[in-house]
Amino acid sequence: MNLKIISGTDMANSKALEVSTYLKRLYQQLGVDAEVIDMADFPLSDVVGGKYMEEIQSINEFREPVLKADALLFVIPEYNGSFPGILKMFIDYLPYPSALVEKPIAYVGIAGGAFGGLRPVEQFQMVANYLNAHQFPERVFISRVHNMFDSETGIKDEFQQKLLISQTEGFIKFIKALKR
Ligand SMILES: Cc1cc2nc3c(=O)[nH]c(=O)nc-3n(C[C@H](O)[C@H](O)[C@H](O)COP(=O)(O)O)c2cc1C
Repeated sequence: MNLKIISGTDMANSKALEVSTYLKRLYQQLGVDAEVIDMADFPLSDVVGGKYMEEIQSINEFREPVLKADALLFVIPEYNGSFPGILKMFIDYLPYPSALVEKPIAYVGIAGGAFGGLRPVEQFQMVANYLNAHQFPERVFISRVHNMFDSETGIKDEFQQKLLISQTEGFIKFIKALKR
């Protein structure tokens, strides 16, 4: 099973990347072939000016592992009550309308504030819903992520960490069930 974890911001050394790297280890421990794709590596400079219908090698290379993945896990930080612009740019440079059709997708929201990325995840889910993805219903939200997340041990709140483990195990079952 091949899972790509999308770290959903182009901020350098982001918290999203830290959470994604932790999740990669968690999935690998459960036998999943998991890798992180960092939106900081999206070849933004190659699409300035709106190159939507053009063949761009760097874009093809960046999106290929996403298109081939059995499943995607998005780690989405809250920026101005929504998801980072780079994520929409990334989606808009996937093949339309087929890219996410029947793709199993799960979400972890993170935020500096109290709502743990609920808003950006739900807004992103509207896009993925429109694109006919299979969205895993158990979502996890990490509030005050700078204080509440440790790169070695995960979420400091015990109950939240249990939810994260539950999501991880449940998502693997969900992907397997859809594959059958
Ligand atoms: C441009 C920008 C906008 C932000 N807007 C919000 C916001 O609306 N609500 C919130 O709780 N935190 C907000 N934050 C804080 C981020 O949610 C927090 O720093 C982030 O989740 C940490 O992850 P990152 O390092 O991956 O960005 C914002 C941060 C940035 C850079």
